[in-house]
This record gives sequence, C-alpha cells and structure tokens, in this order.
Amino acid sequence: MSRAETFFRGRRLRRTPALRRLTAETRLDPSRLVQPLFVRDGDGAGEPIAALPGQSRLTVGTVAEAAREAADLGIGGLLLFGLPAAKDAGGSGAWVEDGVVQRALHTLAEAGTGLVLMADVCLCEYTDHGHCGIVEDGEVLNDPTLEVLGRTAGSLAAAGADVVAPSAMMDGQVAALRAALDASGHEATAILSYAAKYASAFYGPFREAVGSAPGFGDRRGYQMDPPNGREALREIAADLDEGADMVMVKPALPYLDVLRAARERFDAPLAAYHVSGEYAMLEAAAERGWVDRRSAVLETLTAIARAGADILITYHAKDAARWLR
Ligand code: PBG
Repeated sequence: MSRAETFFRGRRLRRTPALRRLTAETRLDPSRLVQPLFVRDGDGAGEPIAALPGQSRLTVGTVAEAAREAADLGIGGLLLFGLPAAKDAGGSGAWVEDGVVQRALHTLAEAGTGLVLMADVCLCEYTDHGHCGIVEDGEVLNDPTLEVLGRTAGSLAAAGADVVAPSAMMDGQVAALRAALDASGHEATAILSYAAKYASAFYGPFREAVGSAPGFGDRRGYQMDPPNGREALREIAADLDEGADMVMVKPALPYLDVLRAARERFDAPLAAYHVSGEYAMLEAAAERGWVDRRSAVLETLTAIARAGADILITYHAKDAARWLR
C-alpha cells in the first residue's frame, strides 16, 4: 500500500483558489444580505452614529440614495428603524400615518429600488420609557401591547412595507400582526418574526443609535434567556403556527447552535441578525489593526450562513456586497 492511501489528503482540494472556489460548501451572495437603516425625523444630512462607525441616522430625504446604493451592490433588502421627533408613553410614533418610517417607506416605494422593504415592528424606539410595550405600574403588559403592534404593522404595510418584522417579543404578536394585516387588506404583506430574540448585551450600540435603552429595569422579562436553546425552537414553532412566513434568530454569532438547530427542524426561510454589538466589536478590533477587517467580516458572515441562515441582516451588508463582487 502506498503511503498516500494511509491518510486523508484534504490539501488536494485546498491547493488553488480555483479548487477552493469550486468545492466551497457555503457561498455568500449579496442577495442574501439585508442592510438595517435608521431614519430620523427632520431634514439635512445623515448623522454618524458613534457606536456604529460607518452607519448613520438618515432622514426621509436621504434614505432613497442609501437604498439605491444598496440596490446597486445587489443587496437583497433593507430593514428600517425609526427615530421619531418625540416619544410618548404609548409609542404612537410607531403607527401614525405620517410616522418617520411610514414616510421613508413611501419615498422608497416611489423610488422603486427593487429591494425588499422590511420594517421593524416594536415600540421601544417610540416610547418615552424605552420598553417594547405598554407599561403600567412598572410592568410591560403583553396583551394590551398586541393591539398597538397590530396597528403599527397595518400602518407600515399601508406605507409600502413588503415585510413587517415584529421584534417586541410579546407572546402572540405574530397572530396579532397577521390578523391586523388581513383585516386591513394587507394579506400579501409577509411577516419575518424575530422568533428567537435573546436578552443580549450586544444591542448596546443600537440603543445608542435610536435612544431606546429602557428607562427602568431591563428586557429580560420578555426577551429570551441566553442559556436556553430548546426554548428557541418552541418560540419558532409557535411563531410559524401563528403565521410567520420567515423566522429569525438574534443575535447571530453567539447563537450559531440555535441557528443550526432551527435550520434542521424548520423549513421556513431562516434569518440571522448580526447585531449592532457584534458589528461594533469587529469594527473596533479592525480599527486598532488587531484583526483584518475584510477577512474577519467575511469569515463571520460565512460562519452565520454555514450555521444555516438563509438571510443575513448585517450592518456590514454594503461592505460585504462590495467585497463579494
Ligand atoms: C427593537 C430592536 C432592537 C434591535 C432590533 N430591534 C433592540 C432591543 O431589543 O433592545 C437590536 C438590533 C441591534 O442591536 O442591531 N426591539
């Protein structure tokens, strides 16, 4: 027996870029990427977000240009978040007809970018207490919040959202959204549910971007507890049952095991949200020269896809799309 037959020669298929490309098991494509965008009330240019270098708070006047750039790069879609002019206890800025995201959606729909337009459905960006639901006596109420989330989804659909993405982690929110959408003639509007959303330390930069840190307490009473993996599958099953068209695991990198388990169990399109803190960590290390930005980002996104994500929501979408061309 020749010596070659006694061991596995994995290096044969790693020898050249062409061989590696041919045999790659996972491929990133810009069409799988979703770029989150922040839209603030008011005019003028985009305001840089300190904790999210490279990202800005756009305005209704500047959002179409950002969308066109994303479309030119072949990106699949946008996920919109709003910063209203004023916040109140009930989060009315989330659902008013002339809300900032509603106006942005009208502009984008008119611009006809060909991108999938997704809008986050939550109250935390719009409430003065920063919680994701209606608060009474220091408690975030589940069922009274459902009606407001449903109204928000209807209003976003009317403004032109292709997909609404509930992120409040209220029980029954997908059913409430589906019912509200159907009742308002938006049966074609899809729901991407933040089904397995963890109470994570990695949302810090996002909360700085939209000023949504809770004014008291935290979100552990409604977002998932990080030790729980099997519970994520129950959350996803429940949301699919309630009518979710697509489901999400969030954050991404610390929860790749959950993504993999979800991929194996469910057939629906699966999204992963590579969140603000994950982005900020990479950017900070790259800025110091501690990691190579391009290869660290592409390796990270590839890992998320390899774990099972069909759709990657990431602040790196534009850069990654540029590098993948
Ligand atoms: C709204 C929402 C949050 C994120 C997405 N939707 C913040 C939170 O739950 O506190 C976080 C996204 C990110 O960190 O990039 N509830």
